[in-house]
Amino acid sequence: MKKNIWGLFALLLCFSLHAQESYNLVPKPAKLTPIQGKFTFQKNTVITISSKDDSFQAVANMLKEQLRVSTGLLLDVKSGAATSKGVVFVQNANLADEAYHLNVSAKKIEIQAKSGKGAFYALQTLFQLMPAQIYSQSASNETLTALACQIEDAPRYSYRGMMLDVGRYYFPVSFIKRFLDLMAVYKLNTFHWHLTEDQGWRIEIKKYPLLTSISSVRKETMVGHYRDQKFDNKPYGGFYTQEEIKEVIAYAAKKFITIIPEIEMPGHSQAVLAAYPELGCNPDKIYQVATKWGISEDVLCPREETFTFMENVLTEVMALFPGQYIHIGGDECPKKQWKESRFCQDLIKKLGLKDEHELQSYFIRRIDKFVTSKGKKLLGWDEILEGGLSPNAMVMSWRGTKGGIEAAKQNHDVVMSPNSYFYLDYYQADPKTQPLAIGGNLPLSKSYSFEPDLPELTTEEAKHIVGIQANVWTEYISTPAYAEYMTFPRALALAEISWSPKQTKDYDDFLRRVKGILPGMDALKINYCPVGLK
Ligand code: ACM
Repeated sequence: MKKNIWGLFALLLCFSLHAQESYNLVPKPAKLTPIQGKFTFQKNTVITISSKDDSFQAVANMLKEQLRVSTGLLLDVKSGAATSKGVVFVQNANLADEAYHLNVSAKKIEIQAKSGKGAFYALQTLFQLMPAQIYSQSASNETLTALACQIEDAPRYSYRGMMLDVGRYYFPVSFIKRFLDLMAVYKLNTFHWHLTEDQGWRIEIKKYPLLTSISSVRKETMVGHYRDQKFDNKPYGGFYTQEEIKEVIAYAAKKFITIIPEIEMPGHSQAVLAAYPELGCNPDKIYQVATKWGISEDVLCPREETFTFMENVLTEVMALFPGQYIHIGGDECPKKQWKESRFCQDLIKKLGLKDEHELQSYFIRRIDKFVTSKGKKLLGWDEILEGGLSPNAMVMSWRGTKGGIEAAKQNHDVVMSPNSYFYLDYYQADPKTQPLAIGGNLPLSKSYSFEPDLPELTTEEAKHIVGIQANVWTEYISTPAYAEYMTFPRALALAEISWSPKQTKDYDDFLRRVKGILPGMDALKINYCPVGLK
């Protein structure tokens, strides 16, 4: 008898381990109850939308389209009362905006959400319950199934972001769309588009055409390590027209991704000065678009003309981007030229400021006022905290978590993006085995170990941490393939920390599931770094 009990126990353990192993979901859902069996998509499977809310329609069509492209199966999408079989989308007004319930049984797949947004996330989970073929484009005729289970899911944080630096290198619209596609697969919802840099201005501004004819092109580019000081002697440039930007914004919206544009000021603006030297502290200087990496001393001078210029630029930017936040950079503005400038020193005196740091605060506060007056909110790197901000300004903490903690204590919303966890330009494995990168040491396990719920914050203060973000800085990343390699798999750590409940965090379990979704990542043709995964 005893032996039988142990045998039964072993069998149950085996079944439950097996069942667990099959659910390779990243990010991990808040609650999953395994069920035995599978749903099979067949010719006569019907997708029913049981909601008057139009937003479900687009998501139901995405399922139809994905099945058509991957297997050739063409399903009907209908509106009507919820049925007892097939795929059914049901509106559940009690759920939060991004939450969903997904019930898969042998007979039926039911997706409940408040609107298309939650249904979209349910769909991403459903695809992970299916064979990797669902991500392919081979119309393979394969019959696809989905593992049965009951899921109740909702994100931990509302801001789940990725930044791409297109200033150091320009990435074509086709890659931006792919980046958005891949973000959406893992339920990331905010794309921070770093559009301007010392080395290149990448957004068309109609009022200032020289920004694209001059500021978007550099005469050559640094190659290899910074210490080598070697250059390729080849002009390099690129920019997005406003029409392209609108196209990307519309594309992102279909994937429930908000785009935050970043226009850097007053530092990281050397490219602007190449076209408009009158905005610098040395108007007679011949500025050029930067050709090497690092922090440029050529910064904007806080003249009235500069404010007028930036307000005009931001007016066009705000007209394009429908999201509430406008990122104005604010980081790494060396004060050397302001110290040496008669104009700046006179302005400091006139305004009764202490020094150049307070002058920077004055700059940011003026821009903050302008952005706020237009009904938008200002977002900036943690340097913007020095000197007081409007209450609705948000801070992006990159120099560790200190700036974010301070901002939260001052009642500002915060996105945590600490460099030692989320700068995806850092090496993710032994540099000897990797392509050239900026430096650092940031393996997947380190990214995953970040915990945004910081002990320094009270429960009330912690509510200001709206989410986290990983940044792909591109000084050493000149191609889409390498950008993808540096982004994955570490973006999966970001996705899980920002989506899944804190109490389910477990690196070994995460790594097992990441290995489990490799076939899906292969089907999506993601050029991920395989170190530690294979
Ligand atoms: C930054 O890395 N300078 C935001």
